[in-house]
Amino acid sequence: MTDPLRPRQFNFSDWQRSFALQAVGLNLAQVTIRDFAGNIRLWTLGMERLYGYTAMEAIGQISHRLLKTVFPRPLPEIEALLRTHGEWSGELLHTTRDGRKIWVSTQWALTVDQESNDFIISEENHDITELKRTRTRQALFLDTFQSSQDAIILKSLDGTILEANLAVERIFGYMPEELIGQSVSLLIPDDLQPQENDIIGEIHKGNRIEHFETIRKRKNGELFEVSLSISPVHNENGKIIGAAKIARDITERNNSHRKMQSLLAELAHLDRVDTMGQMASAIAHELNQPLTALLGYLGAASIILKQRGSDTDPIRTSVEAAKKQAQRSSDVVARLRNYLRPGAGERQNSDFNDLVREAVELGSFGKSLGHIVVDYDLATDIPIVLIDRVQICQVIVNLVRNAVEAMETSPVKVLSVKTKRSPERFLELTVEDSGCGIDPAIQALLFQPFTTSKPHGMGIGLSICRDIVEAHGGRMWVGSKNQGTIFGLMLPLEEEE
Ligand SMILES: Nc1ncnc2c1ncn2[C@@H]1O[C@H](COP(=O)(O)OP(=O)(O)OP(=O)(O)O)[C@@H](O)[C@H]1O
Ligand SMILES: [Mg+2]
Repeated sequence: MTDPLRPRQFNFSDWQRSFALQAVGLNLAQVTIRDFAGNIRLWTLGMERLYGYTAMEAIGQISHRLLKTVFPRPLPEIEALLRTHGEWSGELLHTTRDGRKIWVSTQWALTVDQESNDFIISEENHDITELKRTRTRQALFLDTFQSSQDAIILKSLDGTILEANLAVERIFGYMPEELIGQSVSLLIPDDLQPQENDIIGEIHKGNRIEHFETIRKRKNGELFEVSLSISPVHNENGKIIGAAKIARDITERNNSHRKMQSLLAELAHLDRVDTMGQMASAIAHELNQPLTALLGYLGAASIILKQRGSDTDPIRTSVEAAKKQAQRSSDVVARLRNYLRPGAGERQNSDFNDLVREAVELGSFGKSLGHIVVDYDLATDIPIVLIDRVQICQVIVNLVRNAVEAMETSPVKVLSVKTKRSPERFLELTVEDSGCGIDPAIQALLFQPFTTSKPHGMGIGLSICRDIVEAHGGRMWVGSKNQGTIFGLMLPLEEEE
């Protein structure tokens, strides 16, 4: 059987030639004709090119089976529409001879076969696979573009804004449509305008600019810190025609970083002052006893000398003088101890959970936490408490630092921080680690000043903690665990609600 649809040689009259040319045109179109049972009756060269099946292979086959058609809705529904309206159009998924999936836009029309008088369907298809892919890509791109938290601005090489996403409103204060068509200089503070030339210069060279931190201007004139990433945009010929700019507002980030730095500096200072104070306090404590003993002995010596009636004895004069000096030293030490008593700071109303989070961050700041997981379990029913924020912060920082140091060589590094309100009007904080546990050799003296198991430890962290907590009317405790240690502190809840 010869292929009736393949144009053969034509050697006819003019009208015949014109007819033949139309036939060639039709043959190149991607058209098939079938009956309602799906039997293919006509299959053009265009269809052969699209699906890979020749007319010989296709004719007589059931169309939907041959092309493994996936319909957008059940076929009977489509055929019903076709019968009512005489035509139907939509998108179909087909499989080609070599197994490729292709999307086609299809146009079905109902006609009557001249010979049999049966209804037949002509179907014309166009490959839209690439178009659909592009559409999906564009939709995805648009989604990402609009949902980005960072401002994205497309500009031409002369600095005219071509596109802007929704985030520009939050960051720059302008609606996207207010910016489009304007010059980017609108967003740049006056003294930084020359910067734009440098940026365009880099873009001209095809260079990307990444995380460039600078200042930009909002609609209300406010200046703010921003991190810019800018890359060249090319046209289809590879020519640079503009730039895409991503702007991230970093004011918040920088502010919290600065706050952290200043808190840390304050803490370091306090640490030093407190260390000195603690040392002085410990020394005063240590001196107090021998001084009391000294006073006792000198008093006794003075009484004995008096009993011996050696009033003019130069030894007695010396003993009396020594007694006076010892008394003076004792007074100085007593005053010093009074002065250094902790808890003299200012008490403020504080959100305890906030303070805990801040202190834990501070305690771990600057240390490489490695793989430490911080697990917070903070009670929500904790009232505002009246405490010396800085001192309590220092307590928590000390506990966290000890915990981090104890976990240095542990395979599992979990720091659990819990707050809880106890029925006895106490507020409890526990800091638990999965570290090396307490060294039994120092267990009994843990809270005493200068008790340490660390080569460079001062051994005063915990004693400071205990003093501060007790000055707040609270108490501290420690517990051992299978793996690790748990420190707890309880603070009384007063005058609340
Ligand atoms: N979480 C912990 N796990 C295991 N041991 C701990 C823990 N916390 C404290 N210790 C032990 O208690 C000792 C005393 O701690 P403390 O904080 O008072 O002093 P330090 O950490 O040695 O030095 P520094 O004065 O610099 O803080 C530590 O040396 C350590 O042996
Ligand atoms: Mg310590």
